[in-house]
Amino acid sequence: MGFSMQWICLTVLSCLLCMGGEVRCDCTEERIQIAGGHYTFTKQLNKDSMLIYQCPDDYYPYPHLTRMCQPDGSWRPPPKRFPPQKCKVVECPDPNVLQNGNVSPFLERYFVHNETTYECYSGYTLKGSTKRVCLPNGKWSGSTPICSRDTAENNCADPGIPAGTSRTGDIFGIDNTVKYSCIGNLLLVGSEERLCQENGQWTGIEPTCYYRHTYDTSLEVSESFGSAIRDSLTILEPSDETQLGRKIRIPKHGTLNIYIGVDISESIEQAEVDKAINAITVLISKISSFSVTPNYEIVFFSSEVFEVVKILDFLDKDIKPKNMLDEMKKFKVDDKNTGTDLNLLFKTFLERMSIMKQRVGDKNFEEHRHVLMVFTDGAYNMGGSPDRTVQKIKNMVYLDPTGQKKNESRDEYLDIYIFGVGKDILDTELMPLTAGKDGKHYFRMKDITNLNETFDEIIDEEEVKGLCGLHKEYEAVENAVRKKYPWSAFIRVEREKPSNCIGSLVTSKFILTAAHCFKFGDLAEHVKVEIGDGGISELVEEFKLHPNYNNTAKENKGVKEFYDYDVALIQLKNDVKISNIARPICIPCTIATSNALQLVGASTCRQQEEILLKNHLERLNFLTKRGNTVALKEAHAKLGGNRGDCIRHALEAPGITTANVSEVVTDNFICTGGRTPFRDHIACHGDSGGAVFKNYERRTIQVALVSWGNEDLCGSGGGVIESGEKSRDFHINLFRVIPFLKSILGKEDQTDYTPLEFLPN
Ligand SMILES: *[C@@H]1O[C@H](CO)[C@@H](O)[C@H](O)[C@H]1NC(C)=O
Ligand SMILES: *[C@@H]1O[C@H](CO)[C@@H](O)[C@H](O)[C@H]1NC(C)=O
Ligand SMILES: *[C@@H]1O[C@H](CO)[C@@H](O)[C@H](O)[C@H]1NC(C)=O
Ligand SMILES: *[C@@H]1O[C@H](CO)[C@@H](O)[C@H](O)[C@H]1NC(C)=O
Ligand SMILES: *[C@@H]1O[C@H](CO)[C@@H](O)[C@H](O)[C@H]1NC(C)=O
Repeated sequence: MGFSMQWICLTVLSCLLCMGGEVRCDCTEERIQIAGGHYTFTKQLNKDSMLIYQCPDDYYPYPHLTRMCQPDGSWRPPPKRFPPQKCKVVECPDPNVLQNGNVSPFLERYFVHNETTYECYSGYTLKGSTKRVCLPNGKWSGSTPICSRDTAENNCADPGIPAGTSRTGDIFGIDNTVKYSCIGNLLLVGSEERLCQENGQWTGIEPTCYYRHTYDTSLEVSESFGSAIRDSLTILEPSDETQLGRKIRIPKHGTLNIYIGVDISESIEQAEVDKAINAITVLISKISSFSVTPNYEIVFFSSEVFEVVKILDFLDKDIKPKNMLDEMKKFKVDDKNTGTDLNLLFKTFLERMSIMKQRVGDKNFEEHRHVLMVFTDGAYNMGGSPDRTVQKIKNMVYLDPTGQKKNESRDEYLDIYIFGVGKDILDTELMPLTAGKDGKHYFRMKDITNLNETFDEIIDEEEVKGLCGLHKEYEAVENAVRKKYPWSAFIRVEREKPSNCIGSLVTSKFILTAAHCFKFGDLAEHVKVEIGDGGISELVEEFKLHPNYNNTAKENKGVKEFYDYDVALIQLKNDVKISNIARPICIPCTIATSNALQLVGASTCRQQEEILLKNHLERLNFLTKRGNTVALKEAHAKLGGNRGDCIRHALEAPGITTANVSEVVTDNFICTGGRTPFRDHIACHGDSGGAVFKNYERRTIQVALVSWGNEDLCGSGGGVIESGEKSRDFHINLFRVIPFLKSILGKEDQTDYTPLEFLPN
């Protein structure tokens, strides 16, 4: 922030004293008044003082947010009679962009606290909010309403048209793109273009249109930045064990480097810098609650950079968060220059990265991940545009010296987050500097005051312990399979003909599996459950079958074995110790799963189902075990219009004499298998009870459990077996057995275990 010397004496006439060289001229308060509000200065009426307009809640200053006192004693921008400076009511972007539905009331413009309701034409179903309110930060509450009709050509769900945008592209098949722009002069934050991927998800994030007065609340920042940074932190722990009380340093090949830059040019006061230091301290202490220990580079900058914590020191020493804090505390502002050199900041980061690369070697550097966080208003006036420097950083991390060939698998190695802070943020300069895979990387914040609290909310230690479904994708580490499927449990029920099943850890005390693993007369002590390594079985307290499960219920209706409600929960005597090799999977309709799916605000069970089990073909996985080897199987849920053809094969199963498929396969089942359009894997006997799951980012969510199949292609062996033309598997859809899961896992009036929090609806 600030304006450099070249402005001096531009307007000689208005300030003759300037010519003398040492005499400064003051600005005046003439014509700078604001109707309905007031103003403050950063340095009274002196040169370089910033005039900041203030309005009451729900209003914003218009046409200008600030003015700057020039050395010649004039304001920039100069006050004008038209349009007069005033406080205007906060406005939200136009919601009347909804397709196939109605928005009421219809208004020309929508102001703060105005309410809108959304309805779809018949034949269309509404996803998103039915009611939205225009919020004081210039955004609509809730989520974008979308009226859609599922059609077979669509691989991805309708991505909708967010308020204030217009969209081109109405076909949502694989590789189709949609493009967005904001109507009027609004700024588009988010993805201008999104591509429908094979996995049924759109790339990028939903765009939002920002007015000059729109900002992100602390909660929004902590929710979106929080889940992103959590992911960077949790994936990166190839070795995080504490053995014999001694922390093993992360092997070079999993290093995380965090670069933080804070613009202090506007806040030349120590108090403001202290706030920034406080916020960074909170962030660092939060990050240290993860078992990762990143390297940090912390820089304050104006026209110079002040390297408060040096990343290269981390190569030689074991630097504790406390040491960093001490270093930061020592920092005192005595910066007489008022310029801002954002390019210099990025150059400093680039240079440190280059030295780091040299020191650790190219091969090791390839495994380094980099998170850059920059807090600035973007008003650089020295050093030129940082664009090229940022491009060089990208090229270095993307292993692409020319910036020509894009290697998407390198995207996740670099995240550049920009936090626009200040009264007048230059978005167009700042937005192109962001980088990273999915997730929001650009934020516009009101001021730095609550930043420490925002960071405080970002990473809640309890949440880290309780993060369901978290897992690692590293192949070449010890216990790689356990770390990939830390929720997997292997069950053996001892009897004359023992049954082997797979289960999933759903809380630290419960294993979810199939009811048919148990037979009449089995006792808790016959049940052996293995989680983690070493073949140690957990002590079982009891097991509970779904009350509606009755394998013989339809014997006289031509269904020899009936598997509806084939679910059971095993309660352990002791809590499993949560670690990276033993951690619960996420199950539907819980708050934890909404978090894993990054559903912001109040969410519903249905929203989760819409994300996890969209129509048509959904790729799912389940596990199989052969000897001591655990392997992954893949199958596609035939949903919507594909379901009928899939389930009719149930009638081909041995022991079925009815011709009515609904008698055999109720709505509680998900059908997979067959060879078209994908060659699915088929389940084997020992796979029963295992989780049928989906990975969403770095989290695993169980949507079903393996129950039965119409054809046994595995024999006694098991393993990864391809489906035949007519073989089908039927899995219990967990969304259909929530009351049972909730009655036990969510049971509140007991003291044996912490209940799991389910969504109210
Ligand atoms: C919308 O908000 C404006 C400004 O607060 C108010 O004057 C107007 O009555 C509201 N309109 C509706 C329909 O609520
Ligand atoms: C992309 O980068 C990965 C390393 O992360 C490398 O294995 C792969 O070969 C690269 N692909 C291309 C096309 O450069
Ligand atoms: C954040 O800073 C404010 C003062 O700026 C302080 O009162 C508050 O306790 C701090 N919060 C945290 C979580 O550190
Ligand atoms: C299972 O269903 C059969 C047939 O309806 C019935 O006779 C039997 O009592 C049921 N078993 C249980 C445990 O409810
Ligand atoms: C098929 O079975 C279902 C479930 O028992 C039943 O509701 C339906 O009426 C049956 N249909 C026919 C044609 O018998």
